[in-house]
Amino acid sequence: MDILVVGTGYVGLVSGACFAEMGHHVICLDKNQQKIDDLNRGIIPIYEPGLAEIVARNVKAKRLHFTTDYAVGVAASLVCFITVDTPTTAEGYADLKAIREVAKSIARHMPDYRIIVNKSTVPVGTASEVGAIMRVALEERGVSIPFDVVSNPEFLKEGNAVNDFMKPDRVVIGVESAQAAAIMKEIYSSFMLSYERIILMDITSAELTKYAANCMLATRISFMNELAGFCELTGADITKVRKGIGADKRIGYQFLYAGMGYGGSCFPKDIRALRAHAQALGCAMPLLDAVETINMQQKSVLGQKICAYYEDKGGLDQKTIAILGLAFKPDTDDMREAPSLILIQQLLAKGATVRLFDPVAMSNAKNMLAAHPRISWCADEQEATRGVDAVALVTEWKQFRFLDFSNILGSMTGNAFFDGRNQYDPLEMSRRGFDYVSIGQPTAYASSSAENFSQDYASAGVNAYKAEMHTILNTDEIP
Ligand SMILES: NC(=O)c1ccc[n+]([C@@H]2O[C@H](COP(=O)([O-])OP(=O)(O)OC[C@H]3O[C@@H](n4cnc5c(N)ncnc54)[C@H](O)[C@@H]3O)[C@@H](O)[C@H]2O)c1
Repeated sequence: MDILVVGTGYVGLVSGACFAEMGHHVICLDKNQQKIDDLNRGIIPIYEPGLAEIVARNVKAKRLHFTTDYAVGVAASLVCFITVDTPTTAEGYADLKAIREVAKSIARHMPDYRIIVNKSTVPVGTASEVGAIMRVALEERGVSIPFDVVSNPEFLKEGNAVNDFMKPDRVVIGVESAQAAAIMKEIYSSFMLSYERIILMDITSAELTKYAANCMLATRISFMNELAGFCELTGADITKVRKGIGADKRIGYQFLYAGMGYGGSCFPKDIRALRAHAQALGCAMPLLDAVETINMQQKSVLGQKICAYYEDKGGLDQKTIAILGLAFKPDTDDMREAPSLILIQQLLAKGATVRLFDPVAMSNAKNMLAAHPRISWCADEQEATRGVDAVALVTEWKQFRFLDFSNILGSMTGNAFFDGRNQYDPLEMSRRGFDYVSIGQPTAYASSSAENFSQDYASAGVNAYKAEMHTILNTDEIP
């Protein structure tokens, strides 16, 4: 099949490369000349495991080409996938400016029947808007050319995008013409050899399915973060609660981690977009309102814990904190809406110095953070943690799982470890000599003696809860 993919970002480049890997002839088009020049020189503009190899292989096999020229791309391709960005407008809606531009450009250049596929995440109603835009552009050309618009939302995860695309859990196709349905099924047939996972439906339902999926996943995250706050007051441990509930097959373990809140280019914008659309329709969505509010609060929680820890230690002024991990999640260089950005601002505002390290997101992070005399960029975790008062783990990269803790502690001036991702065992960290503060687990202090340690740890949360109840009830007797 001859395919055009418009937009060579995380979704477009991965989709184009994977379609080519399956034998299709693919042209990837982007309006960004620099990106296309880089791709034509073999430079991959994003970090995505396995992507560079697939791109190189398929360019060599002449199944994958890059261009900025719509005339070339549209003329050569029966199916045109739109994978451009749909960021948030000031009002919270999905910004469809790029989608509209692409629809117009395709209509201006199509010689005969084309299928236009919305793979970008777009609100319900976008396929009909794309259709309307194209009809106007065709009329302006004075031609009447048939076309179909299809919704084919993408569910890949950054960091595992190639694998997700090559072995999708499902391929959702919203289509209302038999001809387009048959062609879409043919395109994806090579991805379905082990078993069929194509779900055909009407376009409106397909458009909503993408938002529904992201909202459901975000809801699970916010639910766990809300429970984590309760755990901290009661002495329960959120990681144990996760195991307890995840074992229930109806619930499962996925997306049940308490942490620093969701970030990235999808969840925040998609939840906002669905809420804004619902609001415009007069449809209340109190559950999603709460999901977003909890997430916004959660992004500040680690910073608040760091401030609280230093409250009786002279505050954060003159303190230096190492931040390990900047990307919004591991295995990606994507910094969009990353919780690290909030934490860094919080710490700088309180007078702290920060030493930053991420295995792949440093260059994107530098573009998003204004130069500051109290920000140092470090080459690795050893350099970042040297001479610091505390370490804050923000992104759970695999290489941080087995840190050389004795070396790190030996080179630090303090001994606090703030874990925004609950990566380590609190008791173990305390035995290693750290004051270990995590999310939804009792704080484990290095100073606890071996004998009373477990008891201290177990009662830490309960005492906090009792103190809180005491304040609430305003009575002399702690319940
Ligand atoms: N990133 C993800 O993990 C992911 C997953 C599923 C769905 N999505 C959705 O897919 C869409 C794309 O996301 P992304 O992360 O790949 O975006 P991105 O910002 O990485 O890439 C978008 C690309 O589109 C190009 N572009 C913009 N306007 C253009 C135009 N008029 N003509 C040609 N090229 C144009 C940009 O130059 C850019 O290279 C969004 O709607 C997003 O919500 C993203």
